[in-house]
Amino acid sequence: MDVNDVGTDLEKVLLTEQQINDKLEEIAAQIDADYGDEDLLLVGVLKGAAPVMVDLSRKIHKHVEIDWMAVSSYGSGTKSSGVVRILKDLDTDVHGRNVLIIEDILDSGLTLSWLKDNLQARGAKSVEIMTLLRKPDAVKVPVELKYLGYDIPNEFVVGYGLDYGDKYRHLPFVGTLARHVYESEEEA
Ligand code: IMP
Ligand code: MG
Repeated sequence: MDVNDVGTDLEKVLLTEQQINDKLEEIAAQIDADYGDEDLLLVGVLKGAAPVMVDLSRKIHKHVEIDWMAVSSYGSGTKSSGVVRILKDLDTDVHGRNVLIIEDILDSGLTLSWLKDNLQARGAKSVEIMTLLRKPDAVKVPVELKYLGYDIPNEFVVGYGLDYGDKYRHLPFVGTLARHVYESEEEA
């Protein structure tokens, strides 16, 4: 899927495929430098983090293991309440492991702060976070990030894993969703 396939659904392209690729290259080099010969388990948060995980991990030169979790935060619509339920747990025992959580976006921070505490409580040696995007609201629940791609404005974005109603995840770039897309949905 590309920009030509979504008509007027997008207001603008916020981050191009090239910008994302370059940033992931930088972060992968930092991960190689920071972890060196240490063990490393990458934990992707389904479904949104799938493209970030695939592209980032292929730029890392050291050995890593990859596992996935799916979580859902209780709350109505776009507001999450901070109560998180595990829909799919890890196959891996994280006890004594260096864990790096891979996420697409940090918004309120509630999901990631819960996840970090949860993995720490399982006896992980270290738990750090990489997220491609961060929104301004993230300041409300301070979450310490080890790696950040881009700070973005407080707009609803789709593509590169991010969805609106489970659509647009397979766009290779990040775009701002046009207002008429969710306004027509609300009227329907
Ligand atoms: P929070 O940090 O706990 O508020 O949760 C962040 C989650 O909300 C992300 O993993 C996304 O699934 C979703 N999210 C937040 N902002 C956006 C957006 O602009 N587009 C698509 N999904 C978003
Ligand atoms: Mg997500």
